[in-house]
Amino acid sequence: MKTKVLITGGTGYIGSHTAVTLIEAGYEVILIDNLSNSSENVVSRIGTITKVKPELEVIDLAKMEQCATVFKRHQDAKAIIHFAALKAVGESVKKPLEYYSNNIGSLTNTLICAKKNGIDKFIFSSSATVFGEPDSIPITEDALRKRPFSPYGNSKKVSEEIMEDLVASESAVSITSLRYFNPIGAHDSGELGELPSGVPNNLMPYITQTATGIREKLWVYGDDYPTRDGIPIRDYIHVVDLAEAHLSAMERLLKEENEEPMEVFNLGSGVGYSVMEVIHAFETTTGQKLNYEITHRRNGDVPQLVASSELAYKKLDWKPKRNLSEMVGSAWAWEKKIRNTKN
Ligand code: NAD
Ligand code: UFG
Repeated sequence: MKTKVLITGGTGYIGSHTAVTLIEAGYEVILIDNLSNSSENVVSRIGTITKVKPELEVIDLAKMEQCATVFKRHQDAKAIIHFAALKAVGESVKKPLEYYSNNIGSLTNTLICAKKNGIDKFIFSSSATVFGEPDSIPITEDALRKRPFSPYGNSKKVSEEIMEDLVASESAVSITSLRYFNPIGAHDSGELGELPSGVPNNLMPYITQTATGIREKLWVYGDDYPTRDGIPIRDYIHVVDLAEAHLSAMERLLKEENEEPMEVFNLGSGVGYSVMEVIHAFETTTGQKLNYEITHRRNGDVPQLVASSELAYKKLDWKPKRNLSEMVGSAWAWEKKIRNTKN
């Protein structure tokens, strides 16, 4: 019998890559998603890669009745990986209540349903955004969580606080919060990748859409930051490396190797690249010239976010294996594939 794992947000960008990694490692995965930011086609794409087409439950986790029905059906699951959330930083500033009710509501409903059905291992998608503007780089897990700049970011900080309150109130549940830095890239098969709806907010899809000509120009937001080239620095991590970190974190919980009821790990590569360095890596790897122009700073951007992931390397027995060239190369292969598919 395979161990069953529930993956909420399982048809999304990071959830779908994690589903592949778990299936390949011998787990049965059940995807749970309301398809608000993903498509049902992802299920067959996962099937193409793994030769196993996982079950998809299309429900809104922010609605308790739907959540309760599905969890009852899958009470034999041993763990939950909770990716489901709305994630557009700018949109969250305009629609804070929508973000809080979706992200916090789906978290608390999932935790309540997990408890009712005796599923006691829980992994949460957190973000480097919980640090706001950090005091020092690289950022360790114990760095102060400051008020993030957006309601989206704050929903992650509040989620971590809710889970801290939960583990303080009862011993039955074990939680791992994984704080992602900047996930980019796509699956090597070209079957899975990031599919932003509308104009992308994030750097990587903006770069690949500019290279295909869908966007006229990439705007580089600010060159007057206190960094080596004046341009903001981020810690980019390949989405498949991130998926592998989820497998390690989940197995640590399943083997009950966790040292605290709630553990927190930063997940990055530990190396920071400026936007200009990413552009150059893209041009060198793909041979595509990018039309770009430097403009003013974007609201809410911090100069530098680079993880210390030493704790994850040690405790999760995991290390990112894929470099920047593989990240931008796979993102480009994915962009070309989806454009051809649509044509
Ligand atoms: P995504 O939008 O591709 O995936 C999230 C999935 O959750 C989507 O498929 C969406 O339809 C689903 N969803 C949203 N609300 C739901 C609800 N109420 N019920 C059921 N399904 C719901 O995003 P992603 O990039 O894969 O991110 C996954 C998680 O990682 C999110 O929690 C996100 O906040 C977090 N995260 C992402 C990044 C990043 O840069 N991609 C960085 C840090 C943290
Ligand atoms: N950037 C540009 N032009 C663009 C898009 C981005 O110059 O068109 C720059 C940004 O100014 C920033 C860098 O590229 O310096 C990375 O920006 P992203 O939007 O790709 O990523 P962020 O670091 O702003 O945000 C990401 C996730 C958030 C998460 C945050 C935590 O998108 O969900 O990391 O670090 F909260």
